[in-house]
Amino acid sequence: MLLKRLLEPIARWESRLAARWVSSAHARLLAVQWGLKPWPEHFDHRIDLFHQWIRTRNPTWVERGVFSLLALKGGPVLELSCGDGFNARNFYSLRAASVIACDIDSRAIVTARRHNRADNLQYVVADIRTDMPQGEFDNVVWDFAFPLTRYFKPAEIERILAQIKRRLAGRGGILSGYTEAETGAVDGDAYQFRCMADLQRFLRGHFANVTVFETRAPQRHNMYFWASDATVPFQEGWHAALVVAGGSVEPGRRTEGSCQGTPPDEAWRSGGG
Ligand SMILES: C[S@@+](CC[C@H](N)C(=O)[O-])C[C@H]1O[C@@H](n2cnc3c(N)ncnc32)[C@H](O)[C@@H]1O
Repeated sequence: MLLKRLLEPIARWESRLAARWVSSAHARLLAVQWGLKPWPEHFDHRIDLFHQWIRTRNPTWVERGVFSLLALKGGPVLELSCGDGFNARNFYSLRAASVIACDIDSRAIVTARRHNRADNLQYVVADIRTDMPQGEFDNVVWDFAFPLTRYFKPAEIERILAQIKRRLAGRGGILSGYTEAETGAVDGDAYQFRCMADLQRFLRGHFANVTVFETRAPQRHNMYFWASDATVPFQEGWHAALVVAGGSVEPGRRTEGSCQGTPPDEAWRSGGG
């Protein structure tokens, strides 16, 4: 008790000091990476983690990881355009049997291998238009983030979707992801996603079940999607990982009135809270 009263203020002081230093170091990294040209094609999310999140209170950068995590079924995952690998490691690798994460930019893959390694996670340099990694997957995650039409021609988007479907078909898999809404797009173009209805219409052309949802942040309109020929999260019959209060969403297997899993005490001791 006495020892704790003595040590806690010291540990708090050290943590405060360290947090300030880590934050200012990442502010300098941000200034160099994005203040001087050439700009990178991806964002190093450690800048969000250690600097921007606390300063701006904007959680947009974690939404994509959380929302795709809801769709993971536990088997192999393919992440397209993974950037710095933050989401592959810190959201997907723990809940997936294995993850292959790819990006066209070899510098992004260097960052990913250096900072976001995990035993069941493999990074590859690949252009998803011509060279998408092969295999069968429970989940394909495509958090492209930028509006798609600024980077891909309509025919390329169609080809990428066809390749994704081929990789999901054998396992009844799910495509999930994120794109920023397009602004100033030309009316009537099927590949410009200005709002949820545009994106929903496009995905419905490829998948039987589609959920699209959005969040708004300062200067950013975020659109997320789950699409599959099998069930998607929150739909009747979905039971991969999601348990809602009062029972499982799987029909006929309700867990009402009982608590299963780790007892709260154990969760606290292992650092939960
Ligand atoms: C805005 S970043 C998003 C990165 C990451 N998914 C995230 O959420 O932070 C877009 C990424 O797409 C990658 N990219 C662009 N064209 C690509 C292509 N043809 N094949 C694979 N990746 C591509 C870029 O290199 C970049 O890392």
